[in-house]
Amino acid sequence: MILNGKVALVTGAASGIGKACAVMLAEAGAQVVAADINAAGAQATAEVIAGFQRQAVAVAADVGDLGQIDAMVKQALAAFGQIDILVNNAGVTRRAEIMELTEADWDRIHRVNAKGVFFCLQRVAREMIPRRSGRIVNIASIAGKGYAGTSNAAYAASKGAVISLTRTASQQLAKHDINVNSVCPGVTRTALSVANMLVRARENGVSVEEMERRRAADIPLGRANEPEDIAALVVFLASPGARNITGQNYNVDGGIIPE
Ligand SMILES: NC(=O)c1ccc[n+]([C@@H]2O[C@H](COP(=O)([O-])OP(=O)(O)OC[C@H]3O[C@@H](n4cnc5c(N)ncnc54)[C@H](O)[C@@H]3O)[C@@H](O)[C@H]2O)c1
Repeated sequence: MILNGKVALVTGAASGIGKACAVMLAEAGAQVVAADINAAGAQATAEVIAGFQRQAVAVAADVGDLGQIDAMVKQALAAFGQIDILVNNAGVTRRAEIMELTEADWDRIHRVNAKGVFFCLQRVAREMIPRRSGRIVNIASIAGKGYAGTSNAAYAASKGAVISLTRTASQQLAKHDINVNSVCPGVTRTALSVANMLVRARENGVSVEEMERRRAADIPLGRANEPEDIAALVVFLASPGARNITGQNYNVDGGIIPE
């Protein structure tokens, strides 16, 4: 119950890493706002949390749209009165080689992964500043640090933006006692990575199982992440023990990239 009395807003909370973060933050005592463009999925996450007697509300929001971000923040405040923790997690990609990428791919990916992350951070920080307290955890990716096996170069660029924003925002928000860090997952078992794995298996003419075996063989610890491996670090970064950690971009990747 290390997060008792705290309110956490998680974007992209309907599935994968966002869902695991929402559930684990609630298990640690936080009240949770589960936001997602997938309203039914966000509702399902809130119901999982209600199932173990913690408070959660679901909010339908497209983080690529500033009006919807503002409405999301308003609904979170109406439900719980404050936001102590933001997990900026919603993200999209599609498996594609650099020479195949289109302007539409670039715009779709950056609208959610870069613009969405920036304006969620800005609009939630606006509420945190008067209270002189807040924890923001952005979900970036080792793709943003040059991981050669990334799904997509435009996606990697969007995650580089998240890593850079984390550093700058941590500097500019420190005077308000707001900590900003990111977690950079490696290969993590979610709907997003399964979709990529299907395309990679097709490209290589092998089964999905064989493709998964080959990818695991490239990971020094020999296993992909489960979403909970990311959520565990997010909970720590939101907890009192992390009060003096800010501006950091932590890999959770089984050792794929060195730093
Ligand atoms: N799975 C991986 O291997 C991996 C690796 C590195 C980083 N990541 C990052 O982790 C984060 C979560 O990804 P995941 O693997 O859990 O994927 P996922 O597809 O399971 O979940 C992403 C969630 O974001 C939601 N979403 C998409 N667009 C949205 C929008 N415009 N507004 C609000 N919600 C939106 C989706 O509905 C979905 O519920 C992403 O930022 C992703 O880039 C994932």
